[in-house]
Amino acid sequence: MKEIKKAVIPVAGFGTRLLPATKAQPKEMLPIVDKPAVQYVVEEAVNSGIEELLLVTGRNKRAIEDYFDYAIELERELEEKGKTDLLNVVRNVSEMVSIYYVRQKVANGLGDAIYHAKGFVSDEPFGVLLADDIIDSSKPCLKQMINVYKSYPGIILAVMKVPIKDTNLYGIIKGNKIDDRLYEVEDLIEKPNPMEAPSNIAIVGRYILMPSIFESLKDTKPGKNGEVQITDAIKNLLIKEKIYAYEFEGARFDVGEKLGYLKANVSFALKNKEFGKEFKKYLKDIVEEA
Ligand code: G1P
Repeated sequence: MKEIKKAVIPVAGFGTRLLPATKAQPKEMLPIVDKPAVQYVVEEAVNSGIEELLLVTGRNKRAIEDYFDYAIELERELEEKGKTDLLNVVRNVSEMVSIYYVRQKVANGLGDAIYHAKGFVSDEPFGVLLADDIIDSSKPCLKQMINVYKSYPGIILAVMKVPIKDTNLYGIIKGNKIDDRLYEVEDLIEKPNPMEAPSNIAIVGRYILMPSIFESLKDTKPGKNGEVQITDAIKNLLIKEKIYAYEFEGARFDVGEKLGYLKANVSFALKNKEFGKEFKKYLKDIVEEA
């Protein structure tokens, strides 16, 4: 069985749910406490054993490339001033992992963004991490999925249960429970209304896919919102491939929308070693006053 050493992070989306903050900067660069959102996802990939990453970018996303590159002038300045701790922090970001970039010229949907990884992936299984979904867990979510893959080789989708009224925000699966936290997928549908949803088990932004996805994507017509959907391309593989859905352990934040972004900030700030305790006290005080 081929090991999973490559992953793809699509970062071409506009970030409309966070406007106006994202008018002139990528949503992936907005900080969650002290790191840009995208770094949490890159770190998850690295801590899951990923050695090569492809970021599918678009116009106005240059800041992401700069962030993971060396910052020569800044580093020289920090070195000269003896600010070694900061220098290490800055340098580590650019040395975490090999990152490749490809541009999606037209925003044709998540499926189309993933199609851009065809050459990079070649003939290996690979991970996909959506940068809007930040997952806080003791074992990285992708690592949990890779462990599942070792016993259940096939497509693996990360899932969680959501309130039935929210099914129209997610890809939803119909599954047959086969193990602890694990379902064999029988059907999947992108963003169904609660009335049409086959369950309340929602796909979150972590996938293990096979190269067969590219053939399927090529034949996948635009679906929901007129965009090529990865959910539809995976559905087309139901007859050929085993597809599993794994209920990961951890808390997921949708940092692509305002409330989720705030919740992620508060949650990570409370865990911060330097000021978490003080922040907790501050929150308690202002909540009591409100
Ligand atoms: C995408 C997928 C959807 C999935 C969601 C998870 O939707 O299309 O199936 O449930 O990510 O975050 P998006 O949120 O990008 O519209």
